Amino acid sequence: MHAVIQPQGKSARVADFIAEQERKTLLRFLTCGSVDDGKSTLIGRLLYDTRLVFEDQLAALRNDSRKFGTTDDDFDFALLVDGLEAEREQGITIDVAYRFFSTPRRKFIVADTPGHAQYTRNMATGASTADLAVVLVDARQGVQTQTRRHSFIASLLSIRHIVLAVNKIDLVDFSQDVFERIVADYLGFAGDLGFAGIQAIPLSARFGDNVTARSPRLGWYQGPCLLEHLETVRIDDEAVARPFRFPVQYVNRPNLNFRGFAGTIASGSIAVGDSVVVARSGKQSRVKRIVTYDGDLPRASEGEAVTLVLEDEIDISRGNILVGTEARPEVADRFAAHIVWFGEEPMQPGRSYLLRTETDQTPVTISRIEHRTDVNTFARQAADRLDLNEVGLCHVQTVEAIAFDPYSANRVTGAFILIDRISNATIGAGMIDSALRQSTNVHLHAFDLDKQARAAQKFQKPVVLWFTGLSASGKSTIANRLEQRLHALGKHTYLLDGDNVRHGLNSDLGFSTEDRAENIRRVGEVARLMVDAGLIVLASFISPFQAERDRIRARLGEGEFIEIFVDTPLEDCIARDPKGLYARALKGEITCFTGIDSPYEIPASPELHLKTRGRDIDELVAEVEKYLAERGIVGSYGSDSWSI
Ligand code: ADX
Repeated sequence: MHAVIQPQGKSARVADFIAEQERKTLLRFLTCGSVDDGKSTLIGRLLYDTRLVFEDQLAALRNDSRKFGTTDDDFDFALLVDGLEAEREQGITIDVAYRFFSTPRRKFIVADTPGHAQYTRNMATGASTADLAVVLVDARQGVQTQTRRHSFIASLLSIRHIVLAVNKIDLVDFSQDVFERIVADYLGFAGDLGFAGIQAIPLSARFGDNVTARSPRLGWYQGPCLLEHLETVRIDDEAVARPFRFPVQYVNRPNLNFRGFAGTIASGSIAVGDSVVVARSGKQSRVKRIVTYDGDLPRASEGEAVTLVLEDEIDISRGNILVGTEARPEVADRFAAHIVWFGEEPMQPGRSYLLRTETDQTPVTISRIEHRTDVNTFARQAADRLDLNEVGLCHVQTVEAIAFDPYSANRVTGAFILIDRISNATIGAGMIDSALRQSTNVHLHAFDLDKQARAAQKFQKPVVLWFTGLSASGKSTIANRLEQRLHALGKHTYLLDGDNVRHGLNSDLGFSTEDRAENIRRVGEVARLMVDAGLIVLASFISPFQAERDRIRARLGEGEFIEIFVDTPLEDCIARDPKGLYARALKGEITCFTGIDSPYEIPASPELHLKTRGRDIDELVAEVEKYLAERGIVGSYGSDSWSI
């Protein structure tokens, strides 16, 4: 990032200056529009008028303008910006420079996306954090295809605020009519794009009218000038309230005593002592230290570059996101995404590309184009390919599952780029909508080897131990301990757990009554297959509805379904709240939460009723084991009888 800062007055003390900068809010924006609409001139004018241009750059500019300028005696502001292009930061594949400037009221980062031909590409890859887009229109030309395209891309990128800058107003005699016609034209289509605000401003970037001060030549215009609007537009800053996301850029291991994970916090905040989870593997640890160049911090939040040291030696290679224990991201290999294509060759379903997120890279194919959007009419069209600069909603299939959030929830963890496998060029940008439902083909077939044979080989009686109860009632803890014991006794087991299954098999399901029924139906079927394979299955699911539990019972053989009610009073579960979910449900942040605003039906006649209050885990596990021994599923302690 380039810092183009000029403190007011040479005597300004650096510390004071920095402190003042830190207090101000930050607005990130970009400019877009057709070629020659005056993008570079406008950025140059803003930088110049806010007196933030380095003196030497100004001196050089004066010379260059005389040599090459197209504006007679004036500075050619476009040259200023183009001159800075040489400094352009080379991101991995992103060709965008960010310029910083500030006024007494606010700090600004403007994404400068130079290059006309590749503008769509630069915009789609460089604008991911912009709060606002300045859409430039040449007053003589009015709204063009590019205006529509860039506005549409801005809306896809979740840019909430638009400034419609009707530039070169001097060339149409400062005409109010022309301005109003263009505004009406623009609102006619952009009204549907879901922007929070559209501010239209007539201006002349070249002469400075309405850029940093209201122009007397545009007396008929009552609104703010550009800078005033940029300084005052309200940006909702939800960053700190969003879930914690930390894409790990690299593992920092300078010596054997230190192992930290370095990266920039993409959203939310983290404090020493907080639990974190590796998004893909689900491994959990706690934050021991938050290390920065300037020493350790007790807490850090969005945008800060830090190194996290964890309490446990868990394996996180580069390519993983550390997240909070609540509100985890999706992990999936099939999802729907809007793709902006800027490859010379069209994008075609079935071809293989490389998909790169902030942390992951995996081969990918586009399995289907759901529709292409016509940027002039915004109509959705059937398509079997995307050509240069086209936008479509696509189904994406990756070779390895990636961790992500929907783009609407997180613009860093919800975005990806597509790379040509041969030329290594960036040829597309994507915004993820959601994971896709898995599809399966089922063929019934009678096999010679049956359940009895498989069970006999394992010397065991296959059953399903179905643990039901409220979230945080202790189901998984008991099931986990019991499985260890059964395993030690030589039993062949498998543990199915709500939280885990919902990351894979059932990642497309939520918590509506309908989705829960489907969740339990699928898990019941999996458990049935495992019983068929001869296993002892431990299933830990809230499974709040009696009807669903009964349905699984009906699908299994006599005595194979053992319903275990883990009976923990709601107030105990709320007090435990290991994932902070009850707190959030009580605040209304999570809906359909069992026990809070969604019912739990107490089992009518469970095989076992475990009352957990006042009892420890070992007692509870022992009670289950006793039952299993009575049923001949395990032998009594130490003398397992291998009963079938
Ligand atoms: S079930 O109701 O469909 O059987 P399941 O056991 O798969 O639920 O998943 C429950 C787990 O999902 C809980 O332990 C909790 O961690 C998490 N969860 C997230 N949202 C909810 C919710 N609205 N209600 C219940 N559990 C939720």
